[in-house]
Amino acid sequence: MKARTCLAIVLAAGEGTRMRSAVPKVLHAIAGRTLLAHVLAAIGETGVTATAVVVGPEQEDVAAEARRVLLQAECFVQRARRGTADAVLAAKSAIERRPDDILIVYGDTPLIRPATLMRLRAALAAGAAVAVLGFRPADPAGYGRLVVKNGKLVAIREDADAGASERKLGLCNGGLMALSGAHALAILERIGDGNRKGEFYLTDAVEIARSMKLDAVAIEVEEDDVRGINTKGQLAEAEAVAQGRLRKAALDSGVTLVAPETVFLCADTKFGKDVVVEPYVVFGDKVTVEDGAVIHSFSHLAGAQVGKGASVGPFARLRPGTRIGEGARIGNFVEVKEAAIGAGAKANHLSYIGDASVGANANIGAGAITCNYDGSDKHRTTIGEGAFVGSNSALVAPVEIGAGAYIGSGSVITKNVPADALALARGRQVIKEGMASRLRGLKSLGKNKARSRD
Ligand code: UD1
Ligand code: CA
Repeated sequence: MKARTCLAIVLAAGEGTRMRSAVPKVLHAIAGRTLLAHVLAAIGETGVTATAVVVGPEQEDVAAEARRVLLQAECFVQRARRGTADAVLAAKSAIERRPDDILIVYGDTPLIRPATLMRLRAALAAGAAVAVLGFRPADPAGYGRLVVKNGKLVAIREDADAGASERKLGLCNGGLMALSGAHALAILERIGDGNRKGEFYLTDAVEIARSMKLDAVAIEVEEDDVRGINTKGQLAEAEAVAQGRLRKAALDSGVTLVAPETVFLCADTKFGKDVVVEPYVVFGDKVTVEDGAVIHSFSHLAGAQVGKGASVGPFARLRPGTRIGEGARIGNFVEVKEAAIGAGAKANHLSYIGDASVGANANIGAGAITCNYDGSDKHRTTIGEGAFVGSNSALVAPVEIGAGAYIGSGSVITKNVPADALALARGRQVIKEGMASRLRGLKSLGKNKARSRD
């Protein structure tokens, strides 16, 4: 049998006023990814053949995000916000191509799972012209109610338009819908705006389909799948659900999370086998942790790749562009940015390594730092294999430390150090015998003078 074609239409034209933010609603993020990107990712696993994103006027940044995530996303502008059916019709030219299935997904419903979208498509394949996701929220106020008679969906009544008995219905419209491509235009073009809000309601599609003797069905799903985001509070709730799912997936794949509820992940965090993550670790986006690595407590990682068997933290900060080699050790209060740390290298305490490459088995002493920024430009530091950088040294970039070189502690290194050389660059130590007690004597003399003045 020929695979059914499917057009997904993502509605993202809303202003999101209740977020009280200058950022369009669908560009807010959970688990390190915009709401829009979550929705597009779920759609991407649903066998769709085309994706349309409906944005509002002056929402070029929303369209840009859609194209960043999905190069072939087609963006349509809804000129005036005249309701969800009007928004769908902004993508009319895509609907006119007559896909077999049309999936309509709200851009502010980031927790939707591919399997749930597949259930909508399956209902169309089984002959329904309209399929709707229903759920039972603790408080149905504000949602459209699904009116089901003899197992068939007969109408969706918007909260504002519902009568007292309809308001009592517990099964609500999750907002995600599938329409048969063959009938979609005929249904959508019959939708009017004769309701309390004077909007073109997509939800009217159900009654119209029924009047055309077509079938409509409701599919009941968990609230989390269709949880919509209108406020910052709901954004935080969705974040919690997303974190719960990511932690479970990590645990299921064999990662040891000692206290999962304290570890924060991103949708793109990748773990190898036998990774251990101690309590209170935050993963920003684009982090990969390879087999057997340990991330100790209170570490923050973003844009970093941690090699096999490496150890990071406690209290380490890995910033974008960090690559930690196999078996390397990054200890407490060490910050690494845009730097490759070679296999077996160590920076165990209080260090900053930025715009650098550190050779295999090199040792960076406590308090040693790269001075990568001269106030206007960034410069690179290269440290050779097996080099030893003594404690509290400052490597003033651009500078190269040769393989096996030895930097005496407290050095300020401004010139290249050849391989295997010893470099000492610090003030000479001065000894003055008996001076300490003389100094103390001078001090107490000063204090007595001050007192006698009082
Ligand atoms: C909608 C449903 C309601 C359902 C609820 C679930 C309608 C008429 N009602 O109500 O039955 O229970 O979602 O959360 O569909 N949008 C546009 N252009 C518009 C209007 C809306 O793009 O002109 C987009 C919004 O950005 C949003 C989505 O459509 O992503 C839903 O719109 P919203 O106003 O939030 O609908 P609700 O009142 O929540
Ligand atoms: Ca809504």
